[in-house]
Amino acid sequence: MDKNLPIILAISAASGFILGIKTLEYLLEHDYKIELIVSQNAYYIAESELGLVLSQDKNLIKNNILEYLNLKNKTESLKVWLDNEFHANPSSGSYKTAGMIIVPSSMSTVAAISSGYTSNLIVRSADVCIKEKRKLLVVPRETPLSSIHLENLLKLSNNGAIIVPPTIGFYSDPQSLDDCVNFLVGKILDLFGIDNSLYKRWSL
Ligand SMILES: Cc1cc2nc3c(=O)[nH]c(=O)nc-3n(C[C@H](O)[C@H](O)[C@H](O)COP(=O)(O)O)c2cc1C
Repeated sequence: MDKNLPIILAISAASGFILGIKTLEYLLEHDYKIELIVSQNAYYIAESELGLVLSQDKNLIKNNILEYLNLKNKTESLKVWLDNEFHANPSSGSYKTAGMIIVPSSMSTVAAISSGYTSNLIVRSADVCIKEKRKLLVVPRETPLSSIHLENLLKLSNNGAIIVPPTIGFYSDPQSLDDCVNFLVGKILDLFGIDNSLYKRWSL
């Protein structure tokens, strides 16, 4: 994959903030350029699930995240946007990107994308990826799934999005939560075309 093209990474307010943050960690550690959008609603989840407190001051959020990941040397590779910043780079199709990963994706974000109602920057960026025929990976988090959720996900899939439910392959023999997270992040990266050895692959 062309490392000069940034990847849009969005974290919405579904359970599993760790999946978004670990995907970000891997990409930054491997020198990818990231345009990060964390939905306003996900700030609460970052704090309740990971103890990661994100400032309301836009200038401090990047620091909060890089400090948490112990990656303060990666400040050049990361741009952070608020979900109401419609003037942000990913909002325009003329801004070239390698595509977008939404991890985790709430059902509310899935519904907004599938209806084309671009209510925030995450939804607008996904809308741009769909219209520009760029890669869009959606990691939906909800259980059980209603017919409404399934219909919305089918619509996204029919429009080229890759739907990646965060379900563990037990053949990878996970022994810890870290192993489970690595399996899921590894699958997400695989599907985005990023080589990794985060999990034990099936091989006889
Ligand atoms: C602790 C917590 C966990 C949640 N987990 C989920 C979830 O896993 N999936 C989901 O679709 N919504 C979940 N929600 C509800 C969403 O946060 C809510 O629908 C919100 O409007 C989504 O906003 P966003 O899509 O802009 O990020 C959760 C809410 C809270 C407070």
